[in-house]
Amino acid sequence: MKPRIVQTTPFEDQQPGTSGLRKTVRTVRQPHYLENFVQSIFDAQPGHAGSTLVIGGDGRYYNREAIQIIVKMAAANGFGRLVIGRHGLLSTPAASHLIRKHRAFGGIILSASHNPGGPDGDFGLKYNIENGGPAPEKVTAAIFARSRAIEHYRMLDAPDLDLTGLAEHRLGETAIEVIDPVGDYAELMESLFDFERMHLQLSRARLSVRFDAMHAVTGPYALELIERRLGAPSGSVQRAEVLPDFGGHHPDPNLEHARALVRTMYADEAPDLGAASDGDGDRNMILGRGCFVTPSDSLAILAANASRVPGYARGLRGIARSMPTSQAADRVAAALEIPCFETPTGWKFFGNLLDAGHITLCGEESFGTGSDHVREKDGLWAVLFWLNLLAVMDQPVSRIMQQHWRRFGRDFYTRHDYENLALEPAMRLMEDLRARLASLEGERLGNREIHRADEFAYVDPVDGSESTRQGIRIRLTDGGRIILRLSGTGTAGATLRVYLESHEPRPSHQNQDPQAALADLIEDARSLANIESRTGRKTPSVIT
Ligand code: G1P
Ligand code: ZN
Repeated sequence: MKPRIVQTTPFEDQQPGTSGLRKTVRTVRQPHYLENFVQSIFDAQPGHAGSTLVIGGDGRYYNREAIQIIVKMAAANGFGRLVIGRHGLLSTPAASHLIRKHRAFGGIILSASHNPGGPDGDFGLKYNIENGGPAPEKVTAAIFARSRAIEHYRMLDAPDLDLTGLAEHRLGETAIEVIDPVGDYAELMESLFDFERMHLQLSRARLSVRFDAMHAVTGPYALELIERRLGAPSGSVQRAEVLPDFGGHHPDPNLEHARALVRTMYADEAPDLGAASDGDGDRNMILGRGCFVTPSDSLAILAANASRVPGYARGLRGIARSMPTSQAADRVAAALEIPCFETPTGWKFFGNLLDAGHITLCGEESFGTGSDHVREKDGLWAVLFWLNLLAVMDQPVSRIMQQHWRRFGRDFYTRHDYENLALEPAMRLMEDLRARLASLEGERLGNREIHRADEFAYVDPVDGSESTRQGIRIRLTDGGRIILRLSGTGTAGATLRVYLESHEPRPSHQNQDPQAALADLIEDARSLANIESRTGRKTPSVIT
Protein backbone atom coordinates (compact mmCIF):
# COMPACT_ATOMS: atom_id res chain seq x y z
CA MET A 1 0.00 0.00 0.00
CA LYS A 2 1.59 3.26 -1.09
CA PRO A 3 0.85 6.46 0.82
CA ARG A 4 -0.77 9.24 -1.10
CA ILE A 5 0.88 12.67 -0.81
CA VAL A 6 -1.81 15.32 -0.50
CA GLN A 7 -0.96 18.94 -1.31
CA THR A 8 -2.15 21.45 1.28
CA THR A 9 -1.67 25.01 2.50
CA PRO A 10 -1.15 26.12 6.12
CA PHE A 11 -3.84 27.29 8.54
CA GLU A 12 -2.59 30.15 10.63
CA ASP A 13 -4.37 29.24 13.86
CA GLN A 14 -2.98 25.85 14.84
CA GLN A 15 -1.17 27.00 17.95
CA PRO A 16 -1.67 24.59 20.86
CA GLY A 17 -2.91 26.29 24.07
CA THR A 18 -2.85 25.30 27.76
CA SER A 19 -3.88 21.79 26.77
CA GLY A 20 -3.43 20.96 23.10
CA LEU A 21 -5.23 22.38 20.08
CA ARG A 22 -8.82 23.21 20.93
CA LYS A 23 -11.21 24.40 18.24
CA THR A 24 -14.87 24.25 17.35
CA VAL A 25 -16.00 21.09 15.58
CA ARG A 26 -16.77 23.31 12.60
CA THR A 27 -13.19 24.54 12.40
CA VAL A 28 -11.72 21.07 12.70
CA ARG A 29 -13.98 19.67 9.98
CA GLN A 30 -12.74 22.06 7.34
CA PRO A 31 -10.96 20.15 4.57
CA HIS A 32 -7.30 19.43 5.45
CA TYR A 33 -7.55 21.08 8.91
CA LEU A 34 -7.14 17.97 11.06
CA GLU A 35 -4.76 16.39 8.55
CA ASN A 36 -2.47 19.43 8.56
CA PHE A 37 -2.20 19.42 12.33
CA VAL A 38 -1.61 15.67 12.60
CA GLN A 39 1.07 15.81 9.90
CA SER A 40 2.67 18.75 11.72
CA ILE A 41 2.86 16.62 14.87
CA PHE A 42 4.54 13.80 12.99
CA ASP A 43 6.89 16.13 11.10
CA ALA A 44 7.94 17.80 14.34
CA GLN A 45 8.85 14.40 15.85
CA PRO A 46 11.63 12.91 13.80
CA GLY A 47 12.49 9.34 14.66
CA HIS A 48 8.96 7.99 14.94
CA ALA A 49 9.33 5.45 12.13
CA GLY A 50 8.63 1.93 13.33
CA SER A 51 7.54 3.05 16.80
CA THR A 52 4.26 2.80 18.70
CA LEU A 53 1.54 5.43 18.87
CA VAL A 54 -1.42 5.34 21.30
CA ILE A 55 -4.70 6.80 20.02
CA GLY A 56 -8.02 7.41 21.76
CA GLY A 57 -10.46 10.08 22.75
CA ASP A 58 -13.24 11.10 25.06
CA GLY A 59 -16.03 9.93 22.75
CA ARG A 60 -17.22 13.36 21.77
CA TYR A 61 -18.78 14.18 18.43
CA TYR A 62 -16.31 13.68 15.54
CA ASN A 63 -14.11 11.39 17.70
CA ARG A 64 -14.75 8.38 15.45
CA GLU A 65 -14.19 10.13 12.14
CA ALA A 66 -11.04 11.83 13.41
CA ILE A 67 -9.57 8.55 14.63
CA GLN A 68 -10.02 6.94 11.23
CA ILE A 69 -8.14 9.81 9.61
CA ILE A 70 -5.34 9.69 12.20
CA VAL A 71 -4.96 5.91 11.85
CA LYS A 72 -4.50 6.15 8.08
CA MET A 73 -2.06 9.03 8.45
CA ALA A 74 -0.05 7.28 11.17
CA ALA A 75 0.26 4.20 8.94
CA ALA A 76 1.25 6.40 6.00
CA ASN A 77 3.90 8.05 8.17
CA GLY A 78 5.56 4.76 9.04
CA PHE A 79 4.51 4.07 12.63
CA GLY A 80 5.13 0.40 13.43
CA ARG A 81 2.23 -0.14 15.79
CA LEU A 82 -0.93 1.66 16.83
CA VAL A 83 -2.68 0.97 20.13
CA ILE A 84 -6.28 2.18 20.02
CA GLY A 85 -9.03 2.05 22.63
CA ARG A 86 -12.14 0.13 21.57
CA HIS A 87 -14.79 2.44 20.08
CA GLY A 88 -11.99 4.99 19.92
CA LEU A 89 -12.28 5.61 23.66
CA LEU A 90 -9.46 6.34 26.08
CA SER A 91 -9.56 8.62 29.06
CA THR A 92 -6.63 11.03 29.22
CA PRO A 93 -5.03 9.32 32.25
CA ALA A 94 -5.57 5.86 30.73
CA ALA A 95 -3.89 7.04 27.52
CA SER A 96 -0.99 8.37 29.58
CA HIS A 97 -0.67 5.00 31.29
CA LEU A 98 -0.76 3.09 27.98
CA ILE A 99 1.96 5.27 26.46
CA ARG A 100 4.18 4.41 29.40
CA LYS A 101 3.23 0.76 29.53
CA HIS A 102 3.83 0.16 25.81
CA ARG A 103 6.92 2.36 25.76
CA ALA A 104 5.24 4.20 22.93
CA PHE A 105 6.74 7.08 21.02
CA GLY A 106 3.74 9.15 22.06
CA GLY A 107 -0.01 9.38 21.89
CA ILE A 108 -2.77 11.42 20.35
CA ILE A 109 -5.74 12.12 22.60
CA LEU A 110 -8.87 13.55 21.07
CA SER A 111 -10.62 15.72 23.57
CA ALA A 112 -11.65 19.24 24.38
CA SER A 113 -11.79 18.21 28.03
CA HIS A 114 -14.74 19.83 29.79
CA ASN A 115 -15.85 21.96 26.82
CA PRO A 116 -19.29 21.06 25.41
CA GLY A 117 -19.48 18.55 22.55
CA GLY A 118 -21.77 17.93 19.60
CA PRO A 119 -21.77 19.40 16.07
CA ASP A 120 -21.88 22.94 17.49
CA GLY A 121 -19.49 22.15 20.32
CA ASP A 122 -15.74 21.89 20.59
CA PHE A 123 -13.14 19.39 19.52
CA GLY A 124 -9.55 19.05 20.54
CA LEU A 125 -6.35 17.21 19.89
CA LYS A 126 -3.49 16.76 22.33
CA TYR A 127 -0.13 15.23 21.65
CA ASN A 128 1.56 13.43 24.53
CA ILE A 129 5.20 12.43 24.52
CA GLU A 130 6.92 9.20 25.49
CA ASN A 131 6.77 9.87 29.25
CA GLY A 132 2.97 9.84 28.88
CA GLY A 133 2.61 13.55 29.58
CA PRO A 134 1.46 16.50 27.50
CA ALA A 135 4.01 17.76 25.02
CA PRO A 136 6.17 20.44 26.64
CA GLU A 137 6.33 23.93 25.17
CA LYS A 138 9.34 23.30 22.97
CA VAL A 139 7.45 20.47 21.28
CA THR A 140 4.17 22.38 20.88
CA ALA A 141 6.16 25.31 19.50
CA ALA A 142 7.80 23.01 16.93
CA ILE A 143 4.38 21.61 15.94
CA PHE A 144 2.98 25.12 15.54
CA ALA A 145 5.98 26.23 13.48
CA ARG A 146 5.58 23.20 11.25
CA SER A 147 1.83 23.87 10.81
CA ARG A 148 2.65 27.29 9.38
CA ALA A 149 4.93 25.91 6.71
CA ILE A 150 3.22 22.66 5.81
CA GLU A 151 2.84 21.86 2.10
CA HIS A 152 1.61 18.28 2.07
CA TYR A 153 0.54 15.38 4.24
CA ARG A 154 0.68 11.61 3.89
CA MET A 155 -2.44 9.48 3.81
CA LEU A 156 -3.12 5.82 3.20
CA ASP A 157 -6.17 5.04 1.08
CA ALA A 158 -7.82 2.22 2.98
CA PRO A 159 -11.27 1.33 4.25
CA ASP A 160 -12.22 2.44 7.77
CA LEU A 161 -11.03 0.23 10.59
CA ASP A 162 -13.52 -1.71 12.68
CA LEU A 163 -13.07 -0.34 16.20
CA THR A 164 -16.02 -2.15 17.80
CA GLY A 165 -14.20 -5.32 18.85
CA LEU A 166 -10.92 -6.22 20.54
CA ALA A 167 -8.77 -7.31 17.61
CA GLU A 168 -5.47 -7.04 15.82
CA HIS A 169 -5.34 -5.61 12.31
CA ARG A 170 -2.72 -4.65 9.76
CA LEU A 171 -2.70 -1.56 7.66
CA GLY A 172 0.16 -1.63 5.18
CA GLU A 173 3.26 -2.17 7.29
CA THR A 174 1.56 -1.05 10.50
CA ALA A 175 0.22 -3.40 13.19
CA ILE A 176 -2.92 -2.20 14.93
CA GLU A 177 -4.25 -3.37 18.25
CA VAL A 178 -7.73 -2.45 19.38
CA ILE A 179 -7.63 -2.84 23.14
CA ASP A 180 -9.98 -2.67 26.10
CA PRO A 181 -9.66 0.97 27.22
CA VAL A 182 -10.37 0.13 30.87
CA GLY A 183 -8.42 -3.03 31.83
CA ASP A 184 -4.86 -1.76 32.14
CA TYR A 185 -5.96 1.37 33.92
CA ALA A 186 -8.07 -0.60 36.41
CA GLU A 187 -5.05 -2.78 37.20
CA LEU A 188 -2.93 0.27 37.81
CA MET A 189 -5.53 1.56 40.28
CA GLU A 190 -5.54 -1.81 42.06
CA SER A 191 -1.79 -1.53 42.49
CA LEU A 192 -2.12 1.81 44.30
CA PHE A 193 -5.16 1.51 46.55
CA ASP A 194 -6.50 -0.92 49.14
CA PHE A 195 -9.28 -2.48 47.07
CA GLU A 196 -9.94 -5.20 49.61
CA ARG A 197 -10.69 -2.76 52.36
CA MET A 198 -12.79 -0.52 50.16
CA HIS A 199 -14.71 -3.53 48.82
CA LEU A 200 -15.44 -4.74 52.31
CA GLN A 201 -17.01 -1.43 53.25
CA LEU A 202 -18.71 -0.52 49.99
CA SER A 203 -20.32 -3.92 49.46
CA ARG A 204 -21.71 -3.93 53.01
CA ALA A 205 -23.01 -0.38 52.82
CA ARG A 206 -20.64 0.83 55.52
CA LEU A 207 -19.39 3.30 52.95
CA SER A 208 -21.37 4.80 50.09
CA VAL A 209 -20.41 6.74 47.00
CA ARG A 210 -22.16 8.52 44.15
CA PHE A 211 -20.11 9.15 41.02
CA ASP A 212 -21.37 11.33 38.17
CA ALA A 213 -19.66 10.44 34.87
CA MET A 214 -21.51 13.27 33.09
CA HIS A 215 -22.08 11.04 30.01
CA ALA A 216 -18.40 11.35 29.24
CA VAL A 217 -15.48 8.97 29.06
CA THR A 218 -15.23 7.93 32.72
CA GLY A 219 -18.57 6.07 32.58
CA PRO A 220 -17.10 2.68 31.60
CA TYR A 221 -14.09 3.17 33.87
CA ALA A 222 -16.19 4.04 36.91
CA LEU A 223 -18.62 1.17 36.33
CA GLU A 224 -15.74 -1.30 36.19
CA LEU A 225 -13.88 0.13 39.19
CA ILE A 226 -16.57 1.33 41.54
CA GLU A 227 -19.41 -1.07 40.87
CA ARG A 228 -17.70 -4.22 39.54
CA ARG A 229 -14.34 -4.34 41.28
CA LEU A 230 -15.25 -2.48 44.47
CA GLY A 231 -18.75 -3.91 44.83
CA ALA A 232 -20.65 -0.64 45.29
CA PRO A 233 -24.36 -1.11 44.60
CA SER A 234 -25.59 -0.55 41.09
CA GLY A 235 -26.61 3.06 40.60
CA SER A 236 -23.56 4.32 42.48
CA VAL A 237 -22.29 5.45 39.07
CA GLN A 238 -24.64 7.83 37.30
CA ARG A 239 -24.79 9.14 33.73
CA ALA A 240 -22.36 6.37 32.77
CA GLU A 241 -23.21 6.06 29.09
CA VAL A 242 -20.73 7.88 26.84
CA LEU A 243 -22.69 10.19 24.52
CA PRO A 244 -21.20 12.25 21.66
CA ASP A 245 -22.85 15.43 22.95
CA PHE A 246 -22.54 14.47 26.66
CA GLY A 247 -26.32 14.49 26.82
CA GLY A 248 -26.37 18.15 25.83
CA HIS A 249 -24.60 19.12 29.05
CA HIS A 250 -21.30 20.63 29.88
CA PRO A 251 -19.00 17.80 31.11
CA ASP A 252 -17.34 20.05 33.64
CA PRO A 253 -17.27 18.75 37.20
CA ASN A 254 -18.01 21.86 39.21
CA LEU A 255 -20.82 23.11 41.41
CA GLU A 256 -22.61 24.64 38.40
CA HIS A 257 -22.57 21.73 35.99
CA ALA A 258 -22.97 18.79 38.36
CA ARG A 259 -26.03 20.26 40.07
CA ALA A 260 -27.93 16.99 40.55
CA LEU A 261 -24.95 15.47 42.31
CA VAL A 262 -24.61 18.55 44.50
CA ARG A 263 -28.31 18.33 45.43
CA THR A 264 -27.90 14.67 46.35
CA MET A 265 -24.90 15.44 48.51
CA TYR A 266 -26.66 18.22 50.42
CA ALA A 267 -29.88 16.21 50.97
CA ASP A 268 -30.76 13.95 53.90
CA GLU A 269 -29.38 10.45 53.51
CA ALA A 270 -26.58 11.68 51.28
CA PRO A 271 -23.81 9.17 50.47
CA ASP A 272 -20.43 9.50 52.19
CA LEU A 273 -18.62 10.61 49.06
CA GLY A 274 -19.86 12.39 45.96
CA ALA A 275 -17.63 12.83 42.94
CA ALA A 276 -17.66 13.74 39.28
CA SER A 277 -15.21 13.79 36.42
CA ASP A 278 -14.98 15.69 33.15
CA GLY A 279 -15.13 14.92 29.41
CA ASP A 280 -11.80 13.12 29.18
CA GLY A 281 -11.56 11.86 32.76
CA ASP A 282 -8.68 13.90 34.08
CA ARG A 283 -10.58 16.26 36.39
CA ASN A 284 -12.33 15.48 39.64
CA MET A 285 -14.74 17.16 41.99
CA ILE A 286 -15.03 15.89 45.55
CA LEU A 287 -18.03 16.38 47.82
CA GLY A 288 -18.74 15.02 51.25
CA ARG A 289 -22.11 14.77 52.93
CA GLY A 290 -23.18 18.42 53.00
CA CYS A 291 -19.79 19.78 52.00
CA PHE A 292 -17.57 20.58 49.05
CA VAL A 293 -13.81 20.11 49.06
CA THR A 294 -12.02 22.76 47.00
CA PRO A 295 -9.46 21.18 44.69
CA SER A 296 -6.67 23.11 46.45
CA ASP A 297 -7.74 21.65 49.80
CA SER A 298 -8.15 18.23 48.25
CA LEU A 299 -4.51 18.22 47.12
CA ALA A 300 -3.39 19.31 50.58
CA ILE A 301 -5.52 16.71 52.38
CA LEU A 302 -4.42 13.87 50.10
CA ALA A 303 -0.81 14.89 50.68
CA ALA A 304 -1.22 15.10 54.44
CA ASN A 305 -2.78 11.63 54.59
CA ALA A 306 -0.95 9.87 51.77
CA SER A 307 0.90 7.52 54.09
CA ARG A 308 -2.44 5.80 54.88
CA VAL A 309 -2.72 4.58 51.28
CA PRO A 310 -0.67 1.56 50.07
CA GLY A 311 0.72 3.19 46.91
CA TYR A 312 2.07 6.17 48.87
CA ALA A 313 2.87 4.55 52.20
CA ARG A 314 6.60 5.07 51.68
CA GLY A 315 6.08 8.83 51.78
CA LEU A 316 6.11 11.66 49.28
CA ARG A 317 9.17 13.08 47.57
CA GLY A 318 7.64 16.48 47.05
CA ILE A 319 4.49 18.30 45.99
CA ALA A 320 3.83 20.71 43.14
CA ARG A 321 0.92 23.03 42.52
CA SER A 322 0.11 25.46 39.75
CA MET A 323 0.68 29.08 40.68
CA PRO A 324 -3.02 30.05 41.06
CA THR A 325 -3.72 26.98 43.25
CA SER A 326 -4.01 27.91 46.93
CA GLN A 327 -1.05 27.65 49.26
CA ALA A 328 -2.69 24.92 51.35
CA ALA A 329 -0.37 22.28 49.87
CA ASP A 330 2.70 24.38 50.75
CA ARG A 331 1.80 24.15 54.42
CA VAL A 332 1.57 20.37 54.25
CA ALA A 333 4.87 20.15 52.38
CA ALA A 334 6.50 22.28 55.06
CA ALA A 335 5.14 20.03 57.81
CA LEU A 336 6.32 16.91 55.96
CA GLU A 337 9.65 18.62 55.32
CA ILE A 338 9.49 17.96 51.61
CA PRO A 339 9.85 20.47 48.75
CA CYS A 340 6.88 22.27 47.23
CA PHE A 341 7.10 23.60 43.65
CA GLU A 342 5.02 26.36 42.11
CA THR A 343 4.51 25.94 38.34
CA PRO A 344 2.57 27.79 35.64
CA THR A 345 -0.99 26.72 34.85
CA GLY A 346 -1.20 23.52 32.79
CA TRP A 347 -0.29 19.93 33.55
CA LYS A 348 2.64 19.91 31.15
CA PHE A 349 4.74 21.80 33.70
CA PHE A 350 4.60 18.90 36.17
CA GLY A 351 6.12 16.40 33.70
CA ASN A 352 9.79 17.17 34.27
CA LEU A 353 9.37 17.32 38.06
CA LEU A 354 7.67 13.91 38.05
CA ASP A 355 10.22 12.36 35.67
CA ALA A 356 13.11 13.66 37.75
CA GLY A 357 11.56 12.21 40.90
CA HIS A 358 11.27 15.63 42.58
CA ILE A 359 7.56 15.23 43.34
CA THR A 360 5.00 12.50 43.99
CA LEU A 361 1.74 14.48 44.11
CA CYS A 362 0.65 17.52 42.15
CA GLY A 363 -2.49 19.49 41.50
CA GLU A 364 -4.28 22.50 40.11
CA GLU A 365 -7.17 24.53 41.48
CA SER A 366 -9.10 23.68 38.32
CA PHE A 367 -10.19 20.27 39.64
CA GLY A 368 -6.98 18.52 38.67
CA THR A 369 -5.07 16.22 40.99
CA GLY A 370 -2.55 13.53 40.20
CA SER A 371 0.63 11.69 41.06
CA ASP A 372 3.65 10.01 39.55
CA HIS A 373 1.55 6.96 38.52
CA VAL A 374 0.87 8.64 35.13
CA ARG A 375 1.81 11.99 33.59
CA GLU A 376 -1.67 13.51 33.47
CA LYS A 377 -4.10 14.59 36.13
CA ASP A 378 -6.41 11.75 36.97
CA GLY A 379 -10.05 12.12 38.00
CA LEU A 380 -10.88 8.57 39.06
CA TRP A 381 -7.55 8.17 40.81
CA ALA A 382 -8.48 11.13 43.05
CA VAL A 383 -11.90 9.63 43.76
CA LEU A 384 -10.35 6.28 44.68
CA PHE A 385 -7.77 8.05 46.85
CA TRP A 386 -10.58 9.73 48.79
CA LEU A 387 -12.54 6.47 49.03
CA ASN A 388 -9.46 4.73 50.36
CA LEU A 389 -8.97 7.48 52.95
CA LEU A 390 -12.61 7.26 54.03
CA ALA A 391 -12.34 3.47 54.34
CA VAL A 392 -9.25 3.81 56.55
CA MET A 393 -10.06 6.93 58.56
CA ASP A 394 -13.67 6.07 59.23
CA GLN A 395 -14.68 9.73 59.47
CA PRO A 396 -16.92 11.87 57.30
CA VAL A 397 -15.31 14.10 54.68
CA SER A 398 -16.43 17.21 56.58
CA ARG A 399 -14.58 16.13 59.69
CA ILE A 400 -11.42 15.25 57.83
CA MET A 401 -11.53 18.72 56.29
CA GLN A 402 -12.17 20.50 59.59
CA GLN A 403 -9.33 18.70 61.28
CA HIS A 404 -7.05 19.60 58.44
CA TRP A 405 -7.94 23.28 58.79
CA ARG A 406 -7.49 23.14 62.53
CA ARG A 407 -3.97 21.90 62.05
CA PHE A 408 -2.87 23.98 59.07
CA GLY A 409 -5.32 26.88 59.01
CA ARG A 410 -7.89 27.30 56.25
CA ASP A 411 -6.98 28.80 52.90
CA PHE A 412 -10.23 30.42 51.83
CA TYR A 413 -10.29 30.23 48.08
CA THR A 414 -12.46 31.12 45.12
CA ARG A 415 -12.09 31.61 41.39
CA HIS A 416 -14.22 34.12 39.49
CA ASP A 417 -14.43 33.64 35.72
CA TYR A 418 -15.58 36.31 33.29
CA GLU A 419 -16.30 34.29 30.18
CA ASN A 420 -16.93 35.27 26.56
CA LEU A 421 -15.26 38.64 26.79
CA ALA A 422 -14.16 40.45 23.67
CA LEU A 423 -10.45 39.72 23.20
CA GLU A 424 -9.24 43.32 22.85
CA PRO A 425 -10.57 44.81 26.10
CA ALA A 426 -9.57 41.72 28.04
CA MET A 427 -6.00 42.02 26.75
CA ARG A 428 -6.03 45.73 27.52
CA LEU A 429 -7.13 45.07 31.09
CA MET A 430 -4.12 42.81 31.54
CA GLU A 431 -1.80 45.28 29.80
CA ASP A 432 -2.91 48.11 32.05
CA LEU A 433 -2.36 46.11 35.17
CA ARG A 434 0.99 44.88 33.91
CA ALA A 435 2.12 48.46 33.39
CA ARG A 436 1.17 49.40 36.95
CA LEU A 437 2.72 46.44 38.76
CA ALA A 438 5.92 48.08 39.94
CA SER A 439 4.04 51.04 41.42
CA LEU A 440 1.66 48.81 43.39
CA GLU A 441 4.16 47.35 45.84
CA GLY A 442 3.73 48.88 49.27
CA GLU A 443 0.37 50.44 48.31
CA ARG A 444 -2.76 49.89 50.37
CA LEU A 445 -5.54 47.78 48.93
CA GLY A 446 -8.71 48.18 50.99
CA ASN A 447 -7.61 47.34 54.50
CA ARG A 448 -4.64 45.29 53.35
CA GLU A 449 -1.22 46.13 52.01
CA ILE A 450 0.37 44.93 48.79
CA HIS A 451 3.62 43.16 49.47
CA ARG A 452 4.68 42.09 45.94
CA ALA A 453 3.05 42.65 42.55
CA ASP A 454 4.56 40.85 39.58
CA GLU A 455 3.89 38.68 36.59
CA PHE A 456 4.66 35.04 37.23
CA ALA A 457 7.56 33.58 35.24
CA TYR A 458 8.95 30.09 35.62
CA VAL A 459 12.30 28.51 35.03
CA ASP A 460 11.97 24.76 34.88
CA PRO A 461 14.38 23.40 37.54
CA VAL A 462 15.07 20.31 35.44
CA ASP A 463 15.75 21.58 31.92
CA GLY A 464 16.09 25.31 32.53
CA SER A 465 13.38 26.25 30.03
CA GLU A 466 11.66 29.57 30.72
CA SER A 467 7.98 30.47 30.56
CA THR A 468 7.03 34.10 30.97
CA ARG A 469 3.71 35.98 31.32
CA GLN A 470 2.05 33.21 33.32
CA GLY A 471 -0.38 35.38 35.26
CA ILE A 472 -0.39 38.58 37.27
CA ARG A 473 0.20 37.96 40.92
CA ILE A 474 -0.62 40.40 43.70
CA ARG A 475 0.66 39.16 47.04
CA LEU A 476 -0.52 40.84 50.22
CA THR A 477 1.39 41.28 53.43
CA ASP A 478 -1.11 39.06 55.29
CA GLY A 479 -0.33 36.13 52.95
CA GLY A 480 -3.46 36.60 50.82
CA ARG A 481 -3.24 36.68 47.03
CA ILE A 482 -5.09 38.00 44.01
CA ILE A 483 -4.15 36.44 40.69
CA LEU A 484 -5.39 37.36 37.25
CA ARG A 485 -4.81 35.55 34.00
CA LEU A 486 -6.47 34.94 30.66
CA SER A 487 -7.56 31.40 29.89
CA GLY A 488 -5.55 29.46 27.33
CA THR A 489 -8.17 26.82 26.56
CA GLY A 490 -11.07 28.79 25.10
CA THR A 491 -12.10 28.63 21.45
CA ALA A 492 -13.66 32.10 21.14
CA GLY A 493 -13.05 35.55 22.68
CA ALA A 494 -11.36 35.65 26.07
CA THR A 495 -12.00 34.40 29.59
CA LEU A 496 -10.58 36.36 32.49
CA ARG A 497 -9.88 34.27 35.56
CA VAL A 498 -9.53 36.00 38.91
CA TYR A 499 -8.26 33.81 41.74
CA LEU A 500 -8.68 34.97 45.34
CA GLU A 501 -7.20 33.51 48.45
CA SER A 502 -6.72 34.31 52.10
CA HIS A 503 -5.38 32.29 55.03
CA GLU A 504 -7.40 31.92 58.25
CA PRO A 505 -5.54 30.27 61.13
CA ARG A 506 -8.30 30.80 63.74
CA PRO A 507 -10.56 27.73 64.03
CA SER A 508 -13.45 29.90 65.25
CA HIS A 509 -13.41 31.76 61.91
CA GLN A 510 -12.95 28.79 59.60
CA ASN A 511 -16.55 27.85 59.01
CA GLN A 512 -17.68 30.76 56.85
CA ASP A 513 -18.78 30.62 53.26
CA PRO A 514 -15.70 31.45 51.14
CA GLN A 515 -17.60 34.13 49.20
CA ALA A 516 -18.36 35.89 52.49
CA ALA A 517 -14.90 35.36 53.93
CA LEU A 518 -13.34 36.76 50.74
CA ALA A 519 -15.91 39.50 50.08
CA ASP A 520 -13.47 42.38 50.68
CA LEU A 521 -10.76 40.85 48.60
CA ILE A 522 -13.20 40.18 45.76
CA GLU A 523 -14.23 43.83 45.72
CA ASP A 524 -10.64 45.03 45.96
CA ALA A 525 -9.62 42.85 43.01
CA ARG A 526 -12.49 44.18 40.91
CA SER A 527 -11.61 47.76 41.49
CA LEU A 528 -7.85 47.22 41.23
CA ALA A 529 -8.21 45.74 37.73
CA ASN A 530 -11.11 48.01 36.71
CA ILE A 531 -12.98 44.91 35.67
CA GLU A 532 -16.36 46.55 35.29
CA SER A 533 -15.24 49.53 33.24
CA ARG A 534 -12.95 47.39 31.09
CA THR A 535 -15.33 44.52 30.41
CA GLY A 536 -18.78 45.92 31.09
CA ARG A 537 -19.37 43.05 33.52
CA LYS A 538 -20.56 43.69 37.05
CA THR A 539 -20.29 40.06 38.11
CA PRO A 540 -18.45 36.93 36.99
CA SER A 541 -20.25 34.31 34.90
CA VAL A 542 -18.93 31.35 36.88
CA ILE A 543 -17.83 31.19 40.49
CA THR A 544 -16.06 28.13 41.80
C1 G1P B 1 -7.70 25.41 32.35
C2 G1P B 1 -7.28 25.34 33.81
C3 G1P B 1 -5.91 24.71 33.93
C4 G1P B 1 -5.91 23.34 33.25
C5 G1P B 1 -6.42 23.47 31.82
C6 G1P B 1 -6.56 22.12 31.15
O1 G1P B 1 -6.80 26.22 31.63
O2 G1P B 1 -7.29 26.62 34.38
O3 G1P B 1 -5.57 24.61 35.28
O4 G1P B 1 -4.62 22.79 33.24
O5 G1P B 1 -7.69 24.11 31.81
O6 G1P B 1 -7.45 21.29 31.81
P1 G1P B 1 -7.08 27.76 31.28
O7 G1P B 1 -8.39 27.79 30.52
O8 G1P B 1 -7.21 28.47 32.58
O9 G1P B 1 -5.89 28.18 30.46
ZN1 ZN C 1 -10.07 17.24 31.07
